[in-house]
Amino acid sequence: MKVYFDNAATTPLDPEVLDAMLPVMRDDFGNPSSTHAFGRKVKAHLENSRRTIAKLLNVTPAEITFTSGGTEADNMAIRGSVAHLGVTTIISSVIEHHAVSHTVEELAHNGRVKLRHVDLLPDGHVHLQHLEQLLSQNTNVLVSLMHGNNEVGNLLDIEKVSQLCRQYNALFHSDTVQTMAHYAFDFQALDLDFAVGAAHKFNGPKGVGFLYHNKRNKIHPMITGGSQERELRAGTENIYGIVGLAKAMEIAYRDMEKKSAHISGLKNYMINQIKQRFPSIKFNGDAEGRSLYTVLNLAFPPELSNEMLLFNFDLNGIAISGGSACTSGSNTGSHVIRGIGKHLDHAPVRMSFGKMNTKEEVDFVLDYMATLFQNAPSA
Ligand SMILES: Cc1ncc(COP(=O)(O)O)c(C=O)c1O
Repeated sequence: MKVYFDNAATTPLDPEVLDAMLPVMRDDFGNPSSTHAFGRKVKAHLENSRRTIAKLLNVTPAEITFTSGGTEADNMAIRGSVAHLGVTTIISSVIEHHAVSHTVEELAHNGRVKLRHVDLLPDGHVHLQHLEQLLSQNTNVLVSLMHGNNEVGNLLDIEKVSQLCRQYNALFHSDTVQTMAHYAFDFQALDLDFAVGAAHKFNGPKGVGFLYHNKRNKIHPMITGGSQERELRAGTENIYGIVGLAKAMEIAYRDMEKKSAHISGLKNYMINQIKQRFPSIKFNGDAEGRSLYTVLNLAFPPELSNEMLLFNFDLNGIAISGGSACTSGSNTGSHVIRGIGKHLDHAPVRMSFGKMNTKEEVDFVLDYMATLFQNAPSA
């Protein structure tokens, strides 16, 4: 049996999405910027896709710009805020994805902004009182805090952060890569300035995503050239990808209730089984509280925390991960686990579930984990 429990890294393409992309790939080769019929046909795909996404998020099409994925959209929001919206201080956290953390660190390093990190609570959640304190002490602020943490699954109280940002007149960017199309956003009700999506995290194609930018902010292109994307992102659009992105998003919203119930069921089953069968395994982050239903991060006991751990899962047909960039099986690779500062002598093992996973697969992984404990030196 082969088990893929690395859906936070990427997800398999939904066959319905492929079916939507194939005719466009095969037949509709025009350049959407061309004014002849070939181009106009493709332009219609582009704008229909934008409309679909805008409608699902309850925003206007002009507030959606297609990008190459989450990283580019995060960069566009952060760099654009500093270059064009007068931001001089960024408030962020040490557990952001590198798409955000490396971007804000570079801007701070080059003297473009002051960077302030908000404190974290022992379970890895953002310390909201400290955030408020930082907001009250700084002006011209961009708050950049991720909605769902890709390694430990913690969910930000995004409504509260939005409200604080409004109260203190700060811009708010949330890296929503792990929550987009997994939770139903309504950006009329939830007031933020920037949010992002990456199709490959919700059974769409890789290399395509979007930035949502609230119309009250006038942003400028980060990539310059032609006038594509309403002059906000130059370069001929990835039409097949964009069609796939919109289709994946449509399917995700259509099936959201069923899908989230199914995936939550798998995660909860795994948590309960682990508590019963392997009580020495701990959970990183707030696994049983405010947490993504797709992500479960296990802290393996020290006697099993060796550099072979992840490799052995892989050898036994189980695809999991040690975090976003950690492949060593030791926790030194995860800036998120280090940032939270708990279970540091325990190897983190992230299991992330998707709609195509089954309970049989969870049982298979649990049975494999039982063999690890049987063979452990002093378990
Ligand atoms: C939270 C988060 N932000 C940003 C990204 C980057 O997205 P992409 O791979 O589409 O550039 C990822 C993907 O790993 C992510 O999990």
